[in-house]
Amino acid sequence: MEKLTGLKKIKTAVFISGTGSNLKNIIKFSKTKKSPISIDLIVSSTYLAKGLKYANQHNIKKKIFNFKNYKEAEKNIFKLLKKEKIKFICLAGFMKILSKEFIKKFDGKIINIHPSLLPKYKGLNTHIRAIRNKDKLAGCTVHYVSTKLDSGKVILQKKIKISLRDNSTSLAKKVLKQEHKLYPAAILKIFN
Ligand code: GRF
Repeated sequence: MEKLTGLKKIKTAVFISGTGSNLKNIIKFSKTKKSPISIDLIVSSTYLAKGLKYANQHNIKKKIFNFKNYKEAEKNIFKLLKKEKIKFICLAGFMKILSKEFIKKFDGKIINIHPSLLPKYKGLNTHIRAIRNKDKLAGCTVHYVSTKLDSGKVILQKKIKISLRDNSTSLAKKVLKQEHKLYPAAILKIFN
């Protein structure tokens, strides 16, 4: 990944579909001096995403895309990313699977956070699966997005102990807390 030159931060878009706690945290990080990125655009797959409120709060441009027509949505997202000169994309709870064509256009420039210790538990319901399998460890992973779901190169991972009292809700809460530390750390790792 290119090194930072001067004071210019890398124009970044965050893609969301839900609560946006990672988005909130990435915005906070982006405003620190050490952050290599600035958040210039928020893309959502639904107008119901609670995280959209952070766009208003921080005066960041937001746009909602209807994925009923996937091709059309991706075409329009791509146009907007070009227009806004976005160079880097963080997926944060984005519930749509981007097409191979889209990913190839931004090869090596899209990262994602996943609530498991990849390659374990790709896809959904990671915490329930870890508990059902009586795993001792859970965690989260920041990885590059490749054309195969949740399979791109791992950037950083954080392990968390699963206690006997944990259910999927308590585990999700514990993991999410670590996600908020891991995402900024992964961004720093990429650009430093
Ligand atoms: C996180 O657990 C993330 O790992 C997963 O979706 C969740 C999004 O949470 N991909 P939030 O919207 O950032 O609060």
